[in-house]
Amino acid sequence: MTQVLRDKHIILGITGGIAAYKAAEVASRLVKARATVDVVMTEAATKFVTPLTFQALTHHPVITEMFALLRETEIGHVSLAQRADLLIIAPATANTMAKLATGLADNMLTATALGTQAPILLAPAMETKMWENPLTQDNMARLQKMRDVTVVGPGAGRLASGGMGPGRMAEPAEIVAWARIILGRGGPLAGQRVLVTTGGTQEPIDPVRFIGNHSSGKMGYALVLSARDRGAKVTLVSAPTALPAPVGMQLVAVQTAQEMQQAVLEALPESDALIMAAAVADYRPTVAAAHKIKKGETGLELELVRTSDILAEVATQRAELGWPRVVVGFAAETQDLVANAQAKLKAKRLDLMVANDARQAMGADVNRVTLLDASGGVEELPLLPKEEVAERVMDRVVELLRGGLSTD
Ligand code: CTP
Repeated sequence: MTQVLRDKHIILGITGGIAAYKAAEVASRLVKARATVDVVMTEAATKFVTPLTFQALTHHPVITEMFALLRETEIGHVSLAQRADLLIIAPATANTMAKLATGLADNMLTATALGTQAPILLAPAMETKMWENPLTQDNMARLQKMRDVTVVGPGAGRLASGGMGPGRMAEPAEIVAWARIILGRGGPLAGQRVLVTTGGTQEPIDPVRFIGNHSSGKMGYALVLSARDRGAKVTLVSAPTALPAPVGMQLVAVQTAQEMQQAVLEALPESDALIMAAAVADYRPTVAAAHKIKKGETGLELELVRTSDILAEVATQRAELGWPRVVVGFAAETQDLVANAQAKLKAKRLDLMVANDARQAMGADVNRVTLLDASGGVEELPLLPKEEVAERVMDRVVELLRGGLSTD
């Protein structure tokens, strides 16, 4: 987990809708990421969930109308509004959105919203008819024109009324992902475009079988979140994985090495840095059978041909165009880690090589890597969660991009 939420002051506003119970998970996720969370509830919200739930989750008193009347001086919601780095309203009802759009300040939450200069993240939740009503749409457009407002969701699906359609509040994980994006916008990779590949490619043998590997894609997914939370514009080229699509970036799904190469070369002119974390097949069946191969009495030989080396192709283009500015590779080894990785760093003309033992790394949540740079530097990192490895790699990418020109 990146540090972008750490020590940030977030006001979580909760309005009166059935989705209010899901706001408990939003609060919990923010607190786990070490944000300071102050909850402001409208009176209607307290009918759905008790303030005590949020007080227990955030370890802070919850601001409600009653509470504010009694203890305004102690809580100082005005100073809270001024100190906030972000105001999240989840769920946001049509009623509250209308109030925000017209500058009404008739309760603690709308007064806080009017009094803060922090960006606002709205997660609307309401019946489909209310959401689709031109008045609601107008209110939203008006709000987005005047304030730094990000609207997340609503998703489509089954609503509390039993109806189907748009109106469901976005999932807590998605809301928190957007909080991270908003707070990371001015980060050290702001304005930079980062292209990452991940997953293990699959080379079809017939319509139901393929040659693959044990790569889970976790390392690449950790890398893209780290880059995104530092303000980068991210493109992820992903071979199949079991991981949920990451929020706030372009995702290009591929299957084979050839598809991955095509996707990388297409995105390359628009990228400042390329990080190849994918486990790309070096061989593929010469032909993929059109129909399922039936078993016979004897053994079966598969004829394989080499796939092209994507990083080698990138190096050729880079030599000509001087682009992208930074290229990072991963070396999956099972023996002579540093020597083999160093040879690949040179051959593929990389700025940074992340060397790992493929037997330990593939599929695991932790990884022990050695970082090798083009000027001969070797840094051995301890066994770390992949999220933490991603942070260290991204620190280097930031440095390399700052350094400007490539090293080859
Ligand atoms: N790579 C690539 N294209 C390939 C194979 C690998 O771009 N066809 C990239 C990987 O994404 C990784 C780096 O090259 O960043 C090293 O991959 P690795 O599998 O460790 O090495 P190979 O070059 O395939 O060499 P070998 O399999 O012989 O170890």
